[in-house]
Amino acid sequence: MSDDTPFTCACIGDLHVREDRPNALRELFGEVSKVAAALVLCGDLTDEGTPRQAEVLAEELRACTIPVVGVLGNHDYETGHADQVKDILRNVGVKLLDGQTCEVNGVAFVGVKGFAGGFGRRMLSSFGEPVIKAFVAEAMNEAMRLENAMRTVKNRRAIVVLHYAPVADTAEGEPLEIMPFLGCSRLGETIDRFKVSAVVHGHAHRGKYEGRTPAGQLVYNVAAQIEKPGGKPYALISV
Ligand SMILES: [Fe+2]
Ligand SMILES: [Fe+2]
Repeated sequence: MSDDTPFTCACIGDLHVREDRPNALRELFGEVSKVAAALVLCGDLTDEGTPRQAEVLAEELRACTIPVVGVLGNHDYETGHADQVKDILRNVGVKLLDGQTCEVNGVAFVGVKGFAGGFGRRMLSSFGEPVIKAFVAEAMNEAMRLENAMRTVKNRRAIVVLHYAPVADTAEGEPLEIMPFLGCSRLGETIDRFKVSAVVHGHAHRGKYEGRTPAGQLVYNVAAQIEKPGGKPYALISV
């Protein structure tokens, strides 16, 4: 495929797969395989991050015949099996990104989970107790890992895949009390040091679909729970 051929990916986050809902996604994965060149999964792939839940998702992904790119979300860490979850999904061909990049049809994907910390001038800063500093350090570390991965991208088109929101825009609609836990501006600031085609994320189930980074780059909250222009649980994004 030439570098200028439009590339459409189906993007969805927060599937929260559980053992008690088998085959819930098979139809969806079959459908996106007909309309998109890649499927992008924006974290919270499982509800509690158990190997069994990852296996259920891996089994359902058999219905998907296009390349699958994804990142983990906070729920995938809940039971302490994140590495196993990654292995199970990588074994069925998912390009699971955690500070790495991959390429599909000449389009680069750059992925990290990201972290919380809040937005803009209200963002949590590294001050006070060690535990607060550790929290902020985790957010800074994720932003640095994103930056390092982005520096390796040479493709004209690049899509950033996150779980946490990089801007407040797409978390709008969520209760104000939880805004600092939905994402962090450090991710958005990092993205703005580069030129990207689109940024997709999940995590903010009650946020809104479209927003922009401070420099005006497009950000989409593709959590399955978010209402999207096509009326489907996934977004079709063309770059
Ligand atoms: Fe979620
Ligand atoms: Fe989440």
